[in-house]
Amino acid sequence: MASATQMQSEQYARLKEVIEEKKKIRNPLIEILRSAQEIFGYLPVEVQEFIAQELDIPANKIYGVVTFYNFFSMTPRGKYTLNVCMGTACFVKGAPHLVQMLSNQLGIQMGETTQDGLFTMSAVRCVGACSLAPVFVIGEDTYGRIDSKDKIAEIVQRYH
Ligand code: FES
Repeated sequence: MASATQMQSEQYARLKEVIEEKKKIRNPLIEILRSAQEIFGYLPVEVQEFIAQELDIPANKIYGVVTFYNFFSMTPRGKYTLNVCMGTACFVKGAPHLVQMLSNQLGIQMGETTQDGLFTMSAVRCVGACSLAPVFVIGEDTYGRIDSKDKIAEIVQRYH
């Protein structure tokens, strides 16, 4: 099995290849950051500094872009993203309460990842299942009209 250091140097080697390739396009930064997030799973400061050095641009420019777009994350993501719909129908039907119940069950706030690395909770716009409001989605699975902490506990357990 590859050691952590070996894995990291492979990740940096892949990133370097990506940078070399994408450098040729105009304004390559977003594309490079997307690829870096795919390779590392998130965008820690060290990775941002590496990209800054390779592109010869200030690291704070990269930091600005990473923090501007919510699809970039500076903390490790969980194995599953638990997306809570915050669209109008879901909001009206109790999405804030649902978030509170999920927070209590998972021990995290919106945008955070559980300690066991299993779930990252995030908010999304309408997922097209308004009749089931309030809704949350884990991977391909959509859960609607969840109104008790017992149901949430049972659903969360399925992913362990
Ligand atoms: S508003 Fe939540 S599914 Fe449409």
